[in-house]
Amino acid sequence: MNTTLAHGCLAVLTAALLAACTGSAPAPGVSHDGGASAATSDTWLQGTVNERLDTIADQLRGFGTAMVEVDHRYRELYFAGQDRNWDYAAYQIAEMEEAIEYGLQRRPARAASAAMLEPALDQVKAGVSAQDATAFEQAFATLAASCNACHLAEDVSFIRVATPAQRVSSIRSDPESNAPTP
Ligand code: HEC
Repeated sequence: MNTTLAHGCLAVLTAALLAACTGSAPAPGVSHDGGASAATSDTWLQGTVNERLDTIADQLRGFGTAMVEVDHRYRELYFAGQDRNWDYAAYQIAEMEEAIEYGLQRRPARAASAAMLEPALDQVKAGVSAQDATAFEQAFATLAASCNACHLAEDVSFIRVATPAQRVSSIRSDPESNAPTP
């Protein structure tokens, strides 16, 4: 056999084998070209990588979705205080801060007005740490006023929050059994 031909065949065979071994199948919806071209049709995310990122950003929405979550946590926080369920109250404050932080990542222009919430939140935190129901109640009223102050500053003064009147979630805790720790 001609050795040049034999070498040529070997080289082709090796290349084919290498391609077979290293060429893993692309994940569903993911094109294998660095994402420059359109996604395959088995995913709802369509277009180039940038177009797909835009679609995800649109789906995450702006500040309003953060506010829907903040409102839930605001209500839970209030009833946690009523129940003297201080761990739950502290948890809700932390989650509320996180929701606002993510909202501000999406709408950074709102950061300056959002800062007006911090003194009130610090007061609420102090009431929670001290397990002091009276201090909590007063701080919560300041918190509500601060929410509304930001709504005014952000031209949505028609969104006015008040002291929550009704429990909405399923969380219940007996205030009697949540007496302050000595
Ligand atoms: C940055 C200032 C700011 C702060 C602080 C703030 N809000 Fe808002 N809130 C907004 C804006 C702006 C909107 C309108 C959202 C939009 O247009 O995307 C809004 C909307 C809302 C909505 C309506 C949500 C909906 O779409 O159904 C509620 C409820 C709400 N806020 C509750 C609160 C509560 C409770 C607090 C305090 C714990 C609070 N907000 C603090 C700026 C703020």
